[in-house]
This record gives sequence, C-alpha cells and structure tokens, in this order.
Amino acid sequence: MSLSKPSLQALKISKAFISGLVQVQVLQQLSISIYPAELSLIVGPSGCGKSTLLSIISGLQNSDAGQVLALGQDISQSSRKSLERFRLHHTGFIFQGFNLFSALTAYEQVALPLSYLKFTAAEIKRRTHTALEEVGMSHRMQLRPHALSGGEKQRIAIARAIAKAPELLFADEPTSALDGVNGQQIIDLLHRIARLHKNTVLCVSHDPRLIRHADRVLTMEDGKIHRDWRKENDSNPLVEYTDVQEYSHE
Ligand SMILES: Nc1ncnc2c1ncn2[C@@H]1O[C@H](COP(=O)(O)OP(=O)(O)OP(=O)(O)O)[C@@H](O)[C@H]1O
Ligand SMILES: [Mg+2]
Repeated sequence: MSLSKPSLQALKISKAFISGLVQVQVLQQLSISIYPAELSLIVGPSGCGKSTLLSIISGLQNSDAGQVLALGQDISQSSRKSLERFRLHHTGFIFQGFNLFSALTAYEQVALPLSYLKFTAAEIKRRTHTALEEVGMSHRMQLRPHALSGGEKQRIAIARAIAKAPELLFADEPTSALDGVNGQQIIDLLHRIARLHKNTVLCVSHDPRLIRHADRVLTMEDGKIHRDWRKENDSNPLVEYTDVQEYSHE
C-alpha cells in the first residue's frame, strides 16, 4: 500500500444529468483518494458512473458539488483556461477507441502533442523515441493506424500519453476493444509505467479480468465507491482495506 500523499482526491462530489424530464443522479457525494506509483482500478457495472467520475477527477468535466484536488491543486475552482493548461502539463489520457489520427504515422502521433509543450526539436525526438521504445513499438514507428493491430494502436496511444512524462495518467476502458491476451499486455504495461515512473495511473473498466493486474481495486455501484481492495506487493493477494471512513456517505 502506498504511504505517500494522495495525488488525486475527490471530496463529496455529486453529478446529475437531465435526460428528458428525468434527472439521473450519477455520482452521489463520492469521495476517493488515489496515490502515486500504483495502478488504481475502478470497476463497476455499465452505467454506474465510472467514465463520469474519471472525467471529473481529471478536470475534463465539472461536478455539481464537491471538490477535486489534483496534485494539491483545487481544480474544481479553476477557470477553463487554467484547467486546459493543467491537463496539458500534468495529465495523459488513454481511451478505449485509441483516438489516433488516421493520417499520421506512429512517430507523428507521439511527437505532435509534444510540440504544444514547446520542447526543442531535439527534445521532441528524444522523448518520442524513448516513449515508443518503452511500449515496444520502435520497430513500427513509420506505420499509420490502418497498418497496426488493436494492441499496437493502444501501445502507440500509451506512448503518446507518457511522452510528456505526466504525473497523472487516466485510462477509460483501455482494453475493451482488445482480446484477452492483448488486453492483459496493455494493463501490465500501465502497471509497469506506474511503478517505474512513480506516476499515478487511474484506470476505469467494467472488465473484471483486469482486477488481478492492479495494485488497488475500487468497486463502484450506484454512484458511490463500495469497496476498496489493496495489494501490499505483487506476490500478495488483494486485501480489503478496512478503514472505510473515507467512503462513509452520511
Ligand atoms: N453527458 C451526459 N448527458 C446525459 N447523461 C449522461 C451523460 N454522461 C453520462 N450520462 C449518464 O450517466 C450514467 C453514467 O454514465 P457513465 O458513462 O459514467 O457510466 P460508465 O460506468 O462509464 O458506463 P460504461 O461501463 O458503459 O462505460 C449513464 O446513465 C449515462 O447515460
Ligand atoms: Mg464508461
């Protein structure tokens, strides 16, 4: 279990959506703390609010109530512009559908966002090569998405997310477009990245097969965190974390 300070905290966040005449309460005073250097996985049934939680905790969307602290900064109070800056400098995203540009080579997919960060050309080149190497894709860097397998595309998307060395990495269903073996490789890669770079990796998925690859597993239901399981180290099983005060919803 990580003993460091949380890098991400949601404090009693709520979110509702209006659908026709009905208001759907998706998150209900949900509180959660996420730590660096580990892969935290939030699992729960389809529609329980995982993607909504991820987008709020990463600053992509505002909550109706509550607070979000990311790297110690209260991002629920930030202006749109400073949120954009925060995301550009400190976060990386990995999505189910890879979100690659069809006209760009693997190398260009990774290099492009680095140009927004005003790195020198030499630094962009160095970071792009390092990231592609880390995900085992150096030999495919001149290929465009149509020539890559699903697993390879997701590796490129991961290289793109890690190339700027963000403290926070978010993944929404990163394996659900992949078969079992490729999905397992992707989650193992995210796990290795968390350990190696000591960054925070927060992944949401409805796939229970990913559970054994995570350091920490939070289960979500009806807009709340229900259970919190942690692993002391790789050879230990997940153990339920008993101090659930954090999740009391009164
Ligand atoms: N922009 C929106 N407008 C209206 N309703 C929304 C919006 N975004 C999400 N919802 C609703 O909020 C609920 C939770 O959605 P969310 O996408 O967070 O679930 P999820 O747990 O990620 O599901 P899945 O496992 O299928 O991806 C759903 O009922 C969904 O229809
Ligand atoms: Mg979702």
